[in-house]
Amino acid sequence: MSVLHGRALVTGGTAGIGYAFAQALAERGCDLLLVARDGERLRSVAEELSRRHGVDVETMIADLSDHGDTDRVATRLDSADDPVEILVNNAGHGLHDAIAQHDVTAHTRALDLMVRAVLVLASRAGATMSDRGHGVIINVGSVAGLIAQNNYSAIKAWVNTFSDALSLELMGTGVRVLTLLPGWVRTEFHGRAEIRTSSIPDFLWLDADRLVTDALAAVEEGKDRSVPSKRFAIIAFLAQRAPRALVRSATARLRKGARH
Ligand SMILES: NC(=O)c1ccc[n+]([C@@H]2O[C@H](COP(=O)([O-])OP(=O)(O)OC[C@H]3O[C@@H](n4cnc5c(N)ncnc54)[C@H](OP(=O)(O)O)[C@@H]3O)[C@@H](O)[C@H]2O)c1
Repeated sequence: MSVLHGRALVTGGTAGIGYAFAQALAERGCDLLLVARDGERLRSVAEELSRRHGVDVETMIADLSDHGDTDRVATRLDSADDPVEILVNNAGHGLHDAIAQHDVTAHTRALDLMVRAVLVLASRAGATMSDRGHGVIINVGSVAGLIAQNNYSAIKAWVNTFSDALSLELMGTGVRVLTLLPGWVRTEFHGRAEIRTSSIPDFLWLDADRLVTDALAAVEEGKDRSVPSKRFAIIAFLAQRAPRALVRSATARLRKGARH
């Protein structure tokens, strides 16, 4: 039996990469638990996926930048009657606000969503799944976490490292942990965060469905990291191995291009 079975909890499962995960897992026969803020959209995506794939789709309206909402979702991971076998820690958003400013609310909310919620859900799932001796955790980091473009990079650097550390910690328990590092993917992400994308060449963009196919194949092959597409594997390699001054000056050019 594939390791990808049972119910999958996908945070941010109503759009972009999360929706692609929800769809691909439903196609494989997995029941779902989708988490997002927009209740109407959750209802319509759940209805669509359940009708198309004949799976059970549970939903939870939760703002994962809110501690109480995150803790409520974490509690669901404890259920032994209807266990969550796959966790996709995906919900997130772009953040290009200046770091040096008086009001850091946007940053602390982003940390709550993309650091605290990732920590709380992955830790809880890791504990429950390792007691059971099986399960899959996918944490969506980013290639952006390999450079120092802004606080979003810093946040994703944390996700990348945290997820790798969890993968090592859970080695031998039967739980697989995948750190997924997407490059630029066409989703609602850039529009929502008002990030300018006109300077990004067409050939660099990734398709969310293709990205997810690669990520799920990596889980089945027992890999602990996935950087989908050859072009982003090369970019990731260069970001980590090229001389620092070169990476810094390329990052500075990227910062200028992304500002509205
Ligand atoms: N797109 C890219 O180029 C790219 C590249 C690298 C990494 N990533 C990462 O991939 C992940 C998914 O991004 P995406 O591109 O798929 O974005 P997206 O198309 O904007 O989708 C974001 C999803 O997350 C949910 N969400 C956002 N804020 C939330 C909150 N506070 N609480 C609960 N759910 C929330 C949204 O639903 P609601 O609005 O209804 O809550 C939506 O379902 C993120 O972690 C992002 O950092 C994206």
